[in-house]
Formats: sequence, C-alpha cells, structure tokens
Amino acid sequence: MKTILVTGGAGYIGSHTLIELDNAGYNFVVVDNLVNSSIESIKRVEKIIGKSIPFYKVDLRDTKALENLFVKHQFHACIHFAGLKAVGESIQKPLEYYHNNMTGTFVLVDLLRKFNCKNIIFSSSATVYGNSDVVPYTEDSPKGNCTNPYGKTKSMLEEVLTDLQNADQNWNVVLLRYFNPIGAHPSGEIGESPNGIPNNLMPYITQVAVGKREKLGVFGNDYNTPDGTGVRDYIHVVDLAKGHVAALAAIERNCGLGIYNLGTGCGYSVLDVVKTFEKVNGVSVPYLIMPRRAGDIAMCYSNPQKANEELGWRAELGLEEMCRDSWNWQKKNPEGYEK
Ligand code: UD1
Repeated sequence: MKTILVTGGAGYIGSHTLIELDNAGYNFVVVDNLVNSSIESIKRVEKIIGKSIPFYKVDLRDTKALENLFVKHQFHACIHFAGLKAVGESIQKPLEYYHNNMTGTFVLVDLLRKFNCKNIIFSSSATVYGNSDVVPYTEDSPKGNCTNPYGKTKSMLEEVLTDLQNADQNWNVVLLRYFNPIGAHPSGEIGESPNGIPNNLMPYITQVAVGKREKLGVFGNDYNTPDGTGVRDYIHVVDLAKGHVAALAAIERNCGLGIYNLGTGCGYSVLDVVKTFEKVNGVSVPYLIMPRRAGDIAMCYSNPQKANEELGWRAELGLEEMCRDSWNWQKKNPEGYEK
C-alpha cells in the first residue's frame, strides 16, 4: 500500500481528503502544527474510517522533526495543505504568512527531494487569478495581482514548484486551484471550524442559523451581477477532496506538471446561497446589506473542463447538498471542535 504524507491533514480540506484517500486504498501519515486546526478532527476521521491515523504535531519549519518522519516512513507522494489562509490577517501579519507558507514549503520540498519522493500535490487557490473578473477562469487565464500576502504565497509557491519541475523532470507537481469549498462530510462528524468570527460566507451563515450571530452582513449589492451580490463557484468539500485522489492517479501516470481548476463551473450569488440554505434546511438566515468588502470582486467561477477531461474528475454535488451538509455539521457541533 502506498503511503501519502498529508501536511495540514487536521484542517478542513485535509481532514475530508483523508477519508477519500482511505476509500481509494491509500495509507497516509498526517503532519500538522495545529495552530489553526484541532486534533479532534483526526479523532473524528479515525471514527469514520475505523482505523488509527499516524499523526505528528510538527511545524514544517522544524527541519529536524520533519526529517524524522522521512526516516520513519517511506512516502510515495505528498499532499501539501499546510498553510495560513486568512486574507485579512495576512495583511496585518505579512512576515508570519511569508515565513510560515514559504519557508514551510521550502523545508518540506527539500526533504521530499532528499528522500527521493518527487511527487507533490499543492493546495493552490483561485486567488492566483487576482482581481480580474473575466470569467470563467481557465488554467490559461492570466495570473493576476494578488492584493494580499496570503494570495501572494499561493501564487509564488506555484512558481517555485513549477521551476522545480522544469529543472528536474522526475518531479510530478500538481497545482490544484480551489474555488470556494463549503459543505461537510455527510456524517456531520467533520466540517469547517473557524477560529473566532468567520471570514468566509458559509461558516458565517451557519453560525447565524444556529443562533451564535445575529445577522449575516452581505458585502455589497451593487455589483454587476444578476442580483447585485458577489458570485462565486462554491464546491462541496467532499468533491474537492476527491479531486486530490484524481490528482494522485495523474501522478501514477507521470503527469509531470499539471495545473487544474477544482470548481463546479457554476456561479451562485450570496443571496442564492442564503435562499438555498433557508429552503433546504427550513431555517431562517437574517441578513443586512453592508458596504463592499475591500479586495472583493464581482464574479469568480471556474471552467473545470481540464480537470474533467484530464483527471476524469467532476464535482457531483450541488448547492443544495452543500447547504444541507454545512448545516448538519454546524447543528451537531455548534461550537465546532471547541478548540
Ligand atoms: C476568500 C478569499 C480567498 C480565499 C478563499 C478561501 C477574500 C477577498 N478572498 O474568497 O482569497 O482563497 O476565501 O475560501 O477574502 N460574503 C458576505 N458576507 C460575509 C462573508 C462573505 O457577503 O460575511 C460574500 C463575499 O463578499 C463574497 C462571497 O460572500 O462575494 C464569498 O466570500 P468568501 O466566502 O469570503 O470567499 P471569497 O471572498 O470568494
């Protein structure tokens, strides 16, 4: 059985991916420094898959500790989720973001090379397309100017990994550009558990629905979109997780460098999400129109054709399932993992 090193495996997307790796017959080892995640997510995944998970609480910048893992285990590939991800915080703490996301990746990739595991899947983001709203984005759409350090680290790390693959064709590098992941595992055991006030739309909606927050602020209703609110490509986190298994299959075929959008190709507005959430769950989500949020764009959605064709992967779950599963998780875990 092949063993995959999963960095950031205790996080939202990482924990869902562990389940899909298990379903696909992979072994895995998780490394996570738990600064923005909870060990409880690993315990819940263990419950779902009925197996214990080798877990190491290690910061990727701790070269010695990370190297010990490579001595102990032989990895076939690495799925690299670990990184800081809050846009606003990254503007306040640029050095922390650059140091964590860049240095952590440098140490990791250096060890992958040293131990001759030249297969990596990197968590990138639609944020690399910058603030252009010429949609839908294809992988050939120009990369834009990211307005914040978080986005810049994603964009720069794409360049670093691309250069590495160009220099040594023995590497397989898959860059996955995620659109907006929402939803949760249908069991309601794992889901998104943000620290403090949520920055993203769906966790805010679920916290309003569960009574933790009074009202959703809708950031602008004067965009050039059908109802004036921002349009995004929401993707169920289970579909996104399956995209990583499809990327591993591409690595088995020695894909070299692969860049893929992981989205549904459908754009929904903020109000579409609110209304669908209310309808499928029978709960109300009071909201208030607020000014636009700095850095937001009107529309962002993918053309996922390349991933559909080359990875044989397609998002299968729709907005209703996303809303249902997000609510199921929040209802069962009103305080998230209670970090
Ligand atoms: C954000 C990040 C993006 C990151 C992604 C991770 C910004 C500018 N972009 O994307 O870099 O990769 O999260 O998931 O932060 N909205 C509200 N009220 C809220 C929250 C959001 O109206 O309380 C609206 C936003 O204006 C936007 C939509 O909901 O139109 C989605 O917002 P969000 O979930 O934060 O995702 P993005 O901004 O698309």
